[in-house]
Amino acid sequence: MLKKQIDDAVSFIQSKTTTIPKIGIILGSGLGPLAEQIEQATSIPYEEVPHFAKSRAVGHANELVIGNLSGTTVVAMKGRFHYYEGFTTQEVTFPVHVMKALGIEKLIVTNACGAVNTDFSPGDLMLISDHINLTGNNPFFGPNDDTLGPRFTDLSNVYSKRMQDIAYQVAEKNNFSLQKGVYAWWTGPAYETPAEIKMIRIIGADAVGMSTVPEAMVAAYYGIETLGISCLTNMACGILDQPLNHKEVIEVANLVKEKFSILVKEIINKV
Ligand code: 6GU
Repeated sequence: MLKKQIDDAVSFIQSKTTTIPKIGIILGSGLGPLAEQIEQATSIPYEEVPHFAKSRAVGHANELVIGNLSGTTVVAMKGRFHYYEGFTTQEVTFPVHVMKALGIEKLIVTNACGAVNTDFSPGDLMLISDHINLTGNNPFFGPNDDTLGPRFTDLSNVYSKRMQDIAYQVAEKNNFSLQKGVYAWWTGPAYETPAEIKMIRIIGADAVGMSTVPEAMVAAYYGIETLGISCLTNMACGILDQPLNHKEVIEVANLVKEKFSILVKEIINKV
């Protein structure tokens, strides 16, 4: 069933463009503007693609953009599906299956998230070294199509060290620093309580957000080399004595979009 759905989506997309994307990019909250730099672009609203769900999050544009970026062919998701919107993890990750079938060999997955590590500051970018799944859900429940990938996915190497090294080189060349850390996936849409953030820090996470992990897990299922980049938009709850709001998250993501664009474009050029 999944295979048939993937094939339907791929056939539709390939009826709109002959470009075969080599790299997939998932753009998180406020980070969508990078897609505007894609050349010879074909944009396809999610609602037109067979079997795609419909995203409704504020700050997301909801389209696939296929074209050229930094001399490489890419497929970018401008906006993503979140578990907290009520989508299943299968719906959340369906686009990753489709990007794989379109031809991607590498994935850059991005998000806006909260900093749990008190050495971090809002506006920092963090390379994801590993993740902790706090949702109790994952995209592999149910039957597995063994022609696509394994029943039991190995997660020992979800985030590519090689791509992280390239990201560091790019950051160094451009004179900005990068943090590195563990990303915890929280269902949302409510932010965490101060006690929950304390727990999340104690169990070893540096940042917390509401996305990325399911997509990275499906990339691991396919053996796609993946880089995760988090934009730390705010300190998580209880670190500073102030409430959190989504508007602020989008504003900070907006402030770093220049740095973020340079980083992603130069990484694409080098991987
Ligand atoms: Cl503090 N928590 C979560 N789960 N997601 C976020 C966030 C915090 N800040 C931005 N996104």
